[in-house]
Amino acid sequence: MKTPNSKRQLLGIVFVFVLFIISNGRSLDTNSQFIKAVNLGGWLVTEGWIKPSLFDSIPNKDFLDGAWLQFKSKTIGKFLAAELGGGTIIVANSSSASDWETFRLWRINETSFHIRVFNKQFLGLDSSGINLVAVSTDYKTSGVFEIIRKSDDPSLVRIKAPNGSFLQAKTQDLVTADSKGDGQWKDDDPSVFMLTISQRLQGEYQVTNGYGPSKAPQIMNDHWNTFIVEEDFNFIATSGLNAVRIPVGWWTASDPTPPKPFVGGSLQYLDKAFLWATKYNLKVILDLHAAPVSQNGYEHSGSRDGFIEWGQTEESIQETLRVLEFFTARYANNPSLYAVELLNEPRADGVSLSVLTKYYEAGYKVVRKHAPNAFVLLSNRLSGDSKELLPVASRMTNAVIDVHYYHLFNDIFNNMTVEQNIEYVRTNRSEELQAITTLAGPLTSVFEWTSEWKVKGATKEEYQRFSKVQLEVYGRASFGWAYWTLKNAEKHWSFEWMIKNGYINL
Ligand SMILES: *[C@@H]1O[C@H](CO)[C@@H](O)[C@H](O)[C@H]1NC(C)=O
Ligand SMILES: *[C@@H]1O[C@H](CO)[C@@H](O)[C@H](O)[C@H]1NC(C)=O
Ligand SMILES: *[C@@H]1O[C@H](CO)[C@@H](O)[C@H](O)[C@H]1NC(C)=O
Ligand SMILES: *[C@@H]1O[C@H](CO)[C@@H](O)[C@H](O)[C@H]1NC(C)=O
Ligand SMILES: *[C@@H]1O[C@H](CO)[C@@H](O)[C@H](O)[C@H]1NC(C)=O
Repeated sequence: MKTPNSKRQLLGIVFVFVLFIISNGRSLDTNSQFIKAVNLGGWLVTEGWIKPSLFDSIPNKDFLDGAWLQFKSKTIGKFLAAELGGGTIIVANSSSASDWETFRLWRINETSFHIRVFNKQFLGLDSSGINLVAVSTDYKTSGVFEIIRKSDDPSLVRIKAPNGSFLQAKTQDLVTADSKGDGQWKDDDPSVFMLTISQRLQGEYQVTNGYGPSKAPQIMNDHWNTFIVEEDFNFIATSGLNAVRIPVGWWTASDPTPPKPFVGGSLQYLDKAFLWATKYNLKVILDLHAAPVSQNGYEHSGSRDGFIEWGQTEESIQETLRVLEFFTARYANNPSLYAVELLNEPRADGVSLSVLTKYYEAGYKVVRKHAPNAFVLLSNRLSGDSKELLPVASRMTNAVIDVHYYHLFNDIFNNMTVEQNIEYVRTNRSEELQAITTLAGPLTSVFEWTSEWKVKGATKEEYQRFSKVQLEVYGRASFGWAYWTLKNAEKHWSFEWMIKNGYINL
């Protein structure tokens, strides 16, 4: 019985040695350690749902940038629509509201707005001076509109056009700016519209532009100064993690004078984060979460109105590379800088794989110029093929493909039971992760996951099992995982709450 055993042992040693050589080949840092991290979400990049109180004192806070409004004519009973999605007249003949009937706000101040339609044109009046159209592609040459709500019924509005008159739906085909708007809000008044707000954004753009230049700097600096503090780094280290993933926005790279409406002061908090990380022996994964003109249209990308315009001009890419260069140059010699994520969650329907691949290649070079040993993270596209980054990542050294796993945001999870969720992690997540975690290829990470799900009224024990199976499966990523988020008004999304209450056991 001895011989076969020692043979097996010898084989085992050879195998481990070969593994060591292979993994050494792709890894500059032989001390690399499996990353267990938490995301410092909602700190340097605002997300309203993480800390709703940040938005509390904004005047007229229903009408922030990017709010999606729909207007149904009280007299005609049909929705205003940008005919053809934009480029021509506005009509009032849609019986239901979707893309063409949705108008996105660009807030000038609490009462005045530019209004953008589906195909990105802005509302204005045509040369006759009274017909409402959506033809201008430049907000500067479009009109400024005021939206006035009925004081005792905010679901009713009038819209004051740039010529000082109010819009009215005269017929289904004719919307003009020539009402005095003095009809007592009666049902037969064609200047009255029923308002629906179909979507809101609550990101950095909204909070800063919502408070405006006189209030936003103080509010944001107070937030940065209090939301995450040194003690949090101590807590993270003592709870068994070895890293933090820090989402940052492009505007922080032009601190202290970022373009409006963003406000200065964020950079010193990022500096502090690096100091605290070093003090508590935590690695930093610096994550470019928000790129100029938005790579995914979500509020967490700093989007103004939900359109994805990143990558559609060379300028947006070059600016992003400058941002990346700023951050990596600043922290390259900091002992805590461990990895740089080039761009968080670009969305497949707005960012093509070829544009992204070129950017990732250029971004990789920028990071390498300053930080030869840092890991470089390539975030998979949302709704992209999970393996599509393998070719580009395989051409790099110390590259990591980052996937994000939520049991939300997709209808397949809506009716899943506890056991089905757990099984989905064990089978589907596990298979997908395994398919991109190849021995000789790039490393992999699950740098966003959470123990929240669609299950209603789950018990603590069920949450514990859900956390446990995710830790187990995501623990097979070759680089590491990170929980979303450290702090959150929603308790199951808060790592701090989950740890302190025993819902996650590391
Ligand atoms: C809001 O902006 C409009 C257009 O620039 C301006 O006419 C108006 O006075 C401003 N209102 C306030 C309250 O600042
Ligand atoms: C609405 O009006 C436009 C312009 O007259 C017309 O082209 C379109 O077919 C109409 N749509 C409906 C649903 O009636
Ligand atoms: C604005 O509306 C008035 C009617 O209230 C109309 O006579 C005028 O032509 C419109 N355009 C301008 C530029 O005033
Ligand atoms: C979920 O269940 C509800 C009712 O039980 C049903 O109406 C709905 O279609 C289901 N959704 C999915 C995505 O299966
Ligand atoms: C999960 O994986 C199983 C087994 O591979 C497959 O049958 C099932 O369709 C997958 N579920 C979803 C929702 O993709």
